[in-house]
Amino acid sequence: MSVFARSGRHASSLRRRTGRHAGAGSGRIVFRGLLVFATALGFGSPAPASPVRFAGSWLVVPRYDPDHPSPGGIPRAFLFRRTTHGFAGTFRWNASDYRLSSFITTRDRLIFRATFGAQRYWMIAKLAPHRDTIDVWVGKKEEGVAPFLARRIAPAALEKMFAAAPHPELMEKLPLPPIRELPPNGLAKTPPLGWNSWNLFREGVSDGAVRTIADALVSTGLRDAGYIYLTIDDGWQGYRDASGELHPNAKFPDMRALVEYVHARGLKFGLYSSPGPVTCAGFIGSHGHEQQDAQMFAAWGIDFLKYDLCSANDIYSGRDEVQRLYQKMGEALRMSGRAIVFSLCEYGLDDVSHWGKAAGGNMWRTGDDTVEGDPWTAVADRFDKDGSPDGAGPGGWNDADMMLMGLGKLNPREEQTHMTLWAMLASPIILGNDIRHMSQQTRRLLTDSEVLAIDQDPLGVQGQRLSKKGAVEIWTKPLADGSIALAIFNRGAARARTRLSFKELGLGTSLEARDLWAHHNLGQIASFQTVIPSHGTVLLRLRALLGAKGS
Ligand code: GLA
Repeated sequence: MSVFARSGRHASSLRRRTGRHAGAGSGRIVFRGLLVFATALGFGSPAPASPVRFAGSWLVVPRYDPDHPSPGGIPRAFLFRRTTHGFAGTFRWNASDYRLSSFITTRDRLIFRATFGAQRYWMIAKLAPHRDTIDVWVGKKEEGVAPFLARRIAPAALEKMFAAAPHPELMEKLPLPPIRELPPNGLAKTPPLGWNSWNLFREGVSDGAVRTIADALVSTGLRDAGYIYLTIDDGWQGYRDASGELHPNAKFPDMRALVEYVHARGLKFGLYSSPGPVTCAGFIGSHGHEQQDAQMFAAWGIDFLKYDLCSANDIYSGRDEVQRLYQKMGEALRMSGRAIVFSLCEYGLDDVSHWGKAAGGNMWRTGDDTVEGDPWTAVADRFDKDGSPDGAGPGGWNDADMMLMGLGKLNPREEQTHMTLWAMLASPIILGNDIRHMSQQTRRLLTDSEVLAIDQDPLGVQGQRLSKKGAVEIWTKPLADGSIALAIFNRGAARARTRLSFKELGLGTSLEARDLWAHHNLGQIASFQTVIPSHGTVLLRLRALLGAKGS
């Protein structure tokens, strides 16, 4: 079981979310780093410690709606108390208390360690000026918006809330269907293209924001380039009523109307849920309500469901159980009577490429969240984590995860490489940037029809590495018209001079070549040489001349 509504995997994802590694072994160094950090910020020495300001109970609340805590039904709270030696505390979640220790107090911050089983983190709590809320960062730096906002609450009120929460039974293992192969749903003949709310809005996504994105998909030409799926990720869910019906939260006053708005713009509408009781961001999941939710999703008119393992990983384990868990929702979606693309989000675990399709999936993730941690490392990771190319094809795709394009995280060369790699992988391309305020450069990269055609090629064969020499990799992808996409990637930090002989690569002696990013015909060539900058790419489309193939 995990805290933050996250599993073992999610605990490490939490580290990645903050881009830091505060593992158990690094305690000493991190501790010293923290002291230096605290001193540098001017509140370390001499510490005018006011621990009393932190003492008490702090209920974690959603930032967008602090008055309606616990969207997933399970309260989470920080409890701090003064001791004769200083401080003690716990983090309470799902009927468990996790230890907080090693407190360092400063004027308005409390720095401490949190121990969740084998996982240990540093955390920083910062008191708001009015002293009734704290922001809590995970890791040793305050970066961006704090993952937790907690509001002071009277201990008795907190106890009452925990007593009323339906924790333990939520975590029960429920019956799963026996494994079978679901017939294809006829969707996703080519990798889905679209936009997803997570990378931009996180839990703050709202009806109004989604409407502006729908408009922008049309006005920027993205829809016409093929990006038709608009998906609301985690953060739309509210509560389940007594009949088990799941209601959206206050940010989504009329889901059906929102779906209509999106459909009226020629787009498809996607939603997000989890097979677990709680989603990765702590909202309510579909555990035990698969059919009911699928039917409601269908009634709302949704066309796409992203289904994220999250807390289910605490209850079910191993390939067999996880496959059956996804199949359960796959069956429910099939029975809903609506054509719904089923997107499996389980980070490439449990050999998903080999059963994703059988469980009813149209795409399945091959790795962790690209948006967390170092951006180039996250993109480059997919060179080596490409799922099993044989398991992918029309109807079911290896999903390399959402794009970092346009988020200001990669330089233009890296963005071009990112697009090229996803196209070569025949991955779904799901954007996450603010397309309402996009640079011409980003728009150009996202809508390049010749590059998108490689991703969307109807043959649906995933590209693979042909060779690797030092930092330079050559990948090829066969295309429906008999031509071949050939990408040369330079993963290194220095520019690379490269020369290819098509004959040596087994591609033929004379090929008609086009440089796709340059939109430039290279004519009939037998070899190709170029200098590729660090993290850059060249993408060619090659066609064997009649009679010359393989000669
Ligand atoms: C996980 C998924 C992300 C996103 C978040 C939402 O981390 O991998 O893509 O959906 O959960 O909480």
